[in-house]
Amino acid sequence: MRIDVYTIFPGIFQSPLQEGLLGKAIRKGLVEVRVHDIRDYAPGKHRQVDDEPFGGGPGMVLKPEPVFEAVTRTLGYRLEELERLKSEVSVIMLTPRGERLTQEKVAELASRPHLALICGRYEGVDERVLEHLCTEAISIGDYVLSGGEFAALVIIEAVTRLVPGVVGNLESLREESFSGGLLEYPQYTRPAEYLGWRVPEVLLSGNHQEVERWRRRMALEWTRRMRPELLKEGGREET
Ligand code: ADE
Repeated sequence: MRIDVYTIFPGIFQSPLQEGLLGKAIRKGLVEVRVHDIRDYAPGKHRQVDDEPFGGGPGMVLKPEPVFEAVTRTLGYRLEELERLKSEVSVIMLTPRGERLTQEKVAELASRPHLALICGRYEGVDERVLEHLCTEAISIGDYVLSGGEFAALVIIEAVTRLVPGVVGNLESLREESFSGGLLEYPQYTRPAEYLGWRVPEVLLSGNHQEVERWRRRMALEWTRRMRPELLKEGGREET
């Protein structure tokens, strides 16, 4: 899988792409991530990437030309070939105005061969980028970040985990939160007693059937307490 990122702050991506599971997946060549500085594609001596909003208002808006230039040039398309580009690459704008990211959407993105992530900044991005260059817009949640960089990292991290070969034990993907429409059950490890707090006895019993029943019950209870709407959305009976 290939992911191209477009940002005016490429430095933000440096260490996150080198650490942990993500760093390992990149070093193994399972995912290829290329980070591009939009400013390199801005015209003129001053490499201006933003300007005042038409109609007035606070803040600055990211100009269209450097974004169109950065995406088309780095991916090897001409500006006249946007339709072909969009049919071959998923071009995603990160913005709080986008479709809310879910594990289901992450799985769908992981099945695509090539993503291009455009990080918005300032008060916004010229709407022609969204209209004519992007195939979709994604928000990682109902809160506002100063830009799309951390949202892009969230997508890269979540998608990479689902690329075959990245997470060694497929079981751990199946068991984790959201994969069965529920939040995950609680986990414990040694010591069996810490500061007087004991691990639930059933987990020490060696009875796999009982352990499974307990985990299922805890997942349901926890989901009902923290995210009751998940039980309703999935049409799941509240038992
Ligand atoms: N940019 C700013 N806020 C964002 C959000 N919540 N999701 C995606 N991109 C963003």
